[in-house]
Amino acid sequence: MSLTLNPRFPLLPSISMAPRLLLLPFLLLFLLSSITTASSPNKKKLKEKLSHLHFYFHDVVGGRNATAVPVTKPAGVGQPFSAFGVITIMDDLLTEGPDPKSEQVGRAQGMYTGAAQEELGFLMAMNLAFTAGKYNGSVLSVLGRNPPLHPVREMPIVGGSGLFRFARGYALARTIWFNFTTGDAIVEYDVHVMHY
Ligand SMILES: *[C@@H]1O[C@H](CO)[C@@H](O)[C@H](O)[C@H]1NC(C)=O
Ligand SMILES: *[C@@H]1O[C@H](CO)[C@@H](O)[C@H](O)[C@H]1NC(C)=O
Ligand SMILES: *[C@@H]1O[C@H](CO)[C@@H](O)[C@H](O)[C@H]1NC(C)=O
Repeated sequence: MSLTLNPRFPLLPSISMAPRLLLLPFLLLFLLSSITTASSPNKKKLKEKLSHLHFYFHDVVGGRNATAVPVTKPAGVGQPFSAFGVITIMDDLLTEGPDPKSEQVGRAQGMYTGAAQEELGFLMAMNLAFTAGKYNGSVLSVLGRNPPLHPVREMPIVGGSGLFRFARGYALARTIWFNFTTGDAIVEYDVHVMHY
């Protein structure tokens, strides 16, 4: 047996090379697309869900164990005794139940600023940093208006991290206890949040 080209198909090698060359760009495209899918492995699993969180917020303004501290003085304009201009920095405890000694679920870290001249009204800018359960280490960011003398205040959830990536939603706040002497308050929070 000698190695000779099949005389009946002398052009065979060049014909079969052409489709292979044509396939090359498609092969590259396929490889590239599988690389991009590989870099976002959760793409297929991503499904937005609605979660409801319920907890209590403890604003301790008075005493040595205060967790909310005013860092500016009132601007001195607006209604008498207006809190307009007062910025309070907080690291308030969040608990499962209304009792401050009930299980801790997180901290509300950030600030509230007297930003209304006609009534008591705060700009809230805070992170709800969770420290228990499956949301331990995850954070929700709240930015909204809080007139604390209203029975129910609604504040937007503008984002989050950890399990709350891409979060959006709203928080409803109801004061359930207030000490007029110290200014301490316990506020019930109902948070409804869309996330993945
Ligand atoms: C501050 O907290 C400590 C420890 O929980 C407690 O023993 C103390 O009574 C508190 N002080 C005030 C003024 O609330
Ligand atoms: C929350 O996570 C931190 C850091 O991973 C861990 O040290 C802590 O024990 C966790 N807390 C709870 C209540 O699971
Ligand atoms: C409010 O706080 C003051 C000072 O700590 C305390 O004497 C008083 O009992 C508190 N009032 C209520 C309703 O808890």
